[in-house]
Amino acid sequence: MTSRKKNTRTKKQPQPDQPLGAVIAVGNQKGGVGKTTVTVNLAAALGDAGHHVLVIDLDPSGGATHHLGVDPYAFEGTVELLNDQSNPGDLAITEGMPMNVSLIAARDELGSITGDIARQLRAGLTQARADYDFILLDTPPNPKSPTTFAAYAAADWFLFVTTPHFLSVRGLTEALRDVGTVRQAVNPGLEVLGVVFNAVDTRSLALRDTKAFLKQHPSLRPFGRKGFIPHSVFPNRVAEEGKTLFQSRQTRYKAVTLRFTQIAREINKRCRDRGGFLAQAPAKRRPTKKGARSHG
Ligand SMILES: Nc1ncnc2c1ncn2[C@@H]1O[C@H](COP(=O)(O)OP(=O)(O)OP(=O)(O)O)[C@@H](O)[C@H]1O
Ligand SMILES: [Mg+2]
Repeated sequence: MTSRKKNTRTKKQPQPDQPLGAVIAVGNQKGGVGKTTVTVNLAAALGDAGHHVLVIDLDPSGGATHHLGVDPYAFEGTVELLNDQSNPGDLAITEGMPMNVSLIAARDELGSITGDIARQLRAGLTQARADYDFILLDTPPNPKSPTTFAAYAAADWFLFVTTPHFLSVRGLTEALRDVGTVRQAVNPGLEVLGVVFNAVDTRSLALRDTKAFLKQHPSLRPFGRKGFIPHSVFPNRVAEEGKTLFQSRQTRYKAVTLRFTQIAREINKRCRDRGGFLAQAPAKRRPTKKGARSHG
């Protein structure tokens, strides 16, 4: 294997305010629902709004790493963060990233790390919190994976990502249950930040079903009527170039990109006013006239 680069990082300008240091685990037990797509594009949207963002790839298959155009074997990354307690600042890649976004890359050896991974991750995050406003943890679809558990155990927030399909929504129910278990066992501070419905075909019944589902599950804290990402060819097109929607002139102002901006704005609000957001009772379930169809 070729030797991996240490990342030389220019020191950030001191900020007038302390970084927010909010840690968000992005997940769903179901694979292929768009966890990684949402993670990297939300990171880019938050960065575009001027926040400092770190993406930590906790998936041994390196989803976020590939999506951001990084060769997993070229850099030290989460393997070193969790194995050797390397400093996140030394591992963060900035070159070629979306504005204000850094990445700690993953490679497949991440799947065979042993020891108390949750503790190692928490230690790494203590340092990263002081440098970044948002730290997004991209997780593998396997709930039994030690890095999935570690992400849930170390995060402040859980962001659900799902597609409006029966199996994905079922994965959501399982993820919600796992969040409850982790809260009770190791991380009482873990709170639901919200749910992003991804790849919604706005011309099909899926949209109606999605809205009905959200009405019935207010505890998932959806992002309003427009808090879903439409099905679009663009996320995949830019991913193939190792980019986010925000890094290409062709996609920068597309409707799908704007949705990420809108959701990022709401995420920022929720994280900054954590107490206020958590104190708001989820909207009451309104009776539907003809009984909306549900996925669950
Ligand atoms: N809004 C969207 N519209 C159309 N395609 C999308 C959308 N979001 C994601 N995709 C595509 O769906 C596929 C799966 O996305 P992604 O890799 O983000 O899912 P994932 O949940 O992270 O998968 P895994 O569980 O394997 O980690 C990719 O090809 C991606 O480009
Ligand atoms: Mg993924």
